[in-house]
Amino acid sequence: MNCAVHNWYKFTAGFSYKLIDLIVDGMGERPKCIYEPFAGCGTTLVAAQEKSIESVGNESQKFMCNVINAKLNWNIDRKICDKYMGHILNYINEHKTTNHIDGEYNKLLVSLYDAATLKDLYLLRDFIKKIRREKYRLFFELALSQTLHKSALCPIAVPYICRNKKRTNSGDACNKFQATVCQMLNDLDTMPHKHRFARVYNADSRKKNQAILAGSCDLCITSPPYLNNLDYGEVSKVPSHFFGITNDWHDITEKVRHNLVTAATTHYNDSDFNLENFKKTEFAVNNRQIMSQLEDLFEQIKKNASSRSGKKSFHIMMMHYFEDMYYVLKEMRRILKDGSPAYLILGDSAPYGVYVQTTQILGEIAESVGFSEYSISKIRTRGTKWKNLTYRHNMELSENILEIR
Ligand SMILES: C[S@@+](CC[C@H](N)C(=O)[O-])C[C@H]1O[C@@H](n2cnc3c(N)ncnc32)[C@H](O)[C@@H]1O
Repeated sequence: MNCAVHNWYKFTAGFSYKLIDLIVDGMGERPKCIYEPFAGCGTTLVAAQEKSIESVGNESQKFMCNVINAKLNWNIDRKICDKYMGHILNYINEHKTTNHIDGEYNKLLVSLYDAATLKDLYLLRDFIKKIRREKYRLFFELALSQTLHKSALCPIAVPYICRNKKRTNSGDACNKFQATVCQMLNDLDTMPHKHRFARVYNADSRKKNQAILAGSCDLCITSPPYLNNLDYGEVSKVPSHFFGITNDWHDITEKVRHNLVTAATTHYNDSDFNLENFKKTEFAVNNRQIMSQLEDLFEQIKKNASSRSGKKSFHIMMMHYFEDMYYVLKEMRRILKDGSPAYLILGDSAPYGVYVQTTQILGEIAESVGFSEYSISKIRTRGTKWKNLTYRHNMELSENILEIR
């Protein structure tokens, strides 16, 4: 969080760049290209670039891809930025007394900012949108995304909007934006070089990405969504609405959630699921033993759901999750050269109090797509901060590293 460039976007689900340093520095031979199927805010790609190592990633959220690309463009000229900044501030001053913005304010944002701040944010957005040179446009858009967080009336992503907390230092968008740009430029002066070593695709890692050749990477470091943890569509909805990528809940479902690994109950329709048909899918057929374990868990979770008020269909979500991850692992296997290791940071889960050994099941699924072995190292205990919630299970969960080879 305090490290130059890595801290340009505070993403709740991000991991530390130190993990990449630890893995890469511990390898006998330097990797040639690192694969990151869930690029998030770009930690793996930025850390690899710092080491002048090539990397390639997928991230299915357009907004996050823009964040990553901005964090990877280190060849930003301060003088050009200053010029743009002059034009931006003139534009804001010219429109101070008018009501002009392109289109309308998004309803969600109206409730998160005071009127003057919201107008400034939209004016900044409108000007930046017109910047033709992409790397400068992305750079300023990322500064503006940070400003969205810093000037909101309440925290907007911890991981979700937290309306019962008030931020003491809200508003003042223009000054915060300027200070953020200044800090980002200073950060760039500390980077080891100005070259670009990473590519990121706005792509779904469950599908074959033709632009990434088979056997082209020799290491994978990633953190997939955890089963029953975050709804990523929800996490980034404020900036996504603000930049016009989405407008409402329906858009988030159609344009964002459907491209994500199923990990929350908002991703699917219960009525579309039929267990008998599911047993005929490629995943189920290639993982018979796992399937019988999953069927038992399915029934237990379903039974527990019937006595809970929410009655969420976590049993269906679990099936979709493992099927989705089967395809992610299959694509990972295609991209990795024989003998390469992959490190996945994962959390296990206990939907409606039924313990699901997520990490181990994914290790087994990895073997079904052609990986030869796996091992698991626990890195921490999680879930304990919810101990006092009476409706929640009190099972201790863990966060692990799954290493597959
Ligand atoms: C746990 S986060 C990764 C965090 C990352 N390690 C970092 O430090 O920022 C998971 C990310 O995977 C993305 N994602 C989920 N499903 C995806 C899919 N099918 N293809 C590509 N990206 C996906 C989410 O949008 C989210 O940004």
